Amino acid sequence: LPRLLFLCPGVDPGRWRRGFARHMPELEFVPATAGEAETPPCDYALVWRPPAGALQDVPDLRAVFSLGAGVDDLLRRVRLPAGVPLVRLVDPALTELMVEYVVHWVIHHHRDFARYAAWQREERWRQVWPGQTSERRVGIMGLGELGGAAARAVAALGFDTAGWSRTPRRIPGVRSFHGPGELPSFLARTDILVCLLPLTAGTERLLDARALGLLPEGARLVNAGRGGVLVEEDLLDALESGRIAAATLDVFREEPLPPGHPFWRHPRVQVTPHVASLTNADTATAAIVANIRRLESGEALTHVVDVERGY
Ligand SMILES: NC(=O)c1ccc[n+]([C@@H]2O[C@H](COP(=O)([O-])OP(=O)(O)OC[C@H]3O[C@@H](n4cnc5c(N)ncnc54)[C@H](OP(=O)(O)O)[C@@H]3O)[C@@H](O)[C@H]2O)c1
Repeated sequence: LPRLLFLCPGVDPGRWRRGFARHMPELEFVPATAGEAETPPCDYALVWRPPAGALQDVPDLRAVFSLGAGVDDLLRRVRLPAGVPLVRLVDPALTELMVEYVVHWVIHHHRDFARYAAWQREERWRQVWPGQTSERRVGIMGLGELGGAAARAVAALGFDTAGWSRTPRRIPGVRSFHGPGELPSFLARTDILVCLLPLTAGTERLLDARALGLLPEGARLVNAGRGGVLVEEDLLDALESGRIAAATLDVFREEPLPPGHPFWRHPRVQVTPHVASLTNADTATAAIVANIRRLESGEALTHVVDVERGY
């Protein structure tokens, strides 16, 4: 019988055990126990924030699954045994939450609803024409599972939508930009910038003073990718100068966002605590099981991470 090692310190295994029992009753669920001298042989591992160097000596591993969509932290912590694929989490429920988050904040910024929240506190009744949706230029960085779905949803609402990725992506209604060469023209045409990039050597500190300076005056930023993509001090400067009118940030260089960090109380920064999308054990186990079944019936796994590329 196949065995799955659950190596997610700090995550309650209960819901995961129930998820696997429901979707793959024949799978043996083995929670890793801290301090155990030797990890038992397992066919699969489900991991999140594992101790550094974990997995190196788990015998017979066939595949490692990440409990989340982003694998930057995992790749820093573990060296996978040679030839063992790492699979990231792709789950329609995860995508749905991210699409809601992006649509919510794009509309929030397009309509400048923060202004009315501020005016309410002053008992001020004032109406401002928000501008035409079809003329509001939204730019999504990263057009993968999450960014691609977000771009489709934003385009469906009628926004002038573009996306930027490493390689060209064809999405109906979404203008495609790609590679470093097309980044300046992508940024120059973007009023609301949504970042859904993974954190890799190629994206780290990509949103710096220079990149932010290429946006039109008064642009808005939504970062739900990874905190390390953004240079936080440069965003504070851009907010100060007015280049960026407002920002919504879900991810940060250091999480939880440290006490006293200027983002906490900044009047034009909305902080959400890494909740743009959250993994749900039941739907996630269904997605992981579908992939395990694929492997067991001799098919190729889907959503395998390219370790060299970093995503
Ligand atoms: N805040 C949250 O709650 C939350 C939740 C889940 C995930 N996330 C973050 O969202 C990220 C994206 O997830 P996903 O499932 O959409 O990933 P994905 O399917 O792997 O897509 C990644 C996208 O980024 C593009 N990209 C990667 N490196 C690039 C580079 N150097 N230059 C330009 N484009 C680049 C890729 O380009 P190609 O299309 O050319 O490959 C692809 O379009 C995750 O890595 C994670 O960090 C955040």
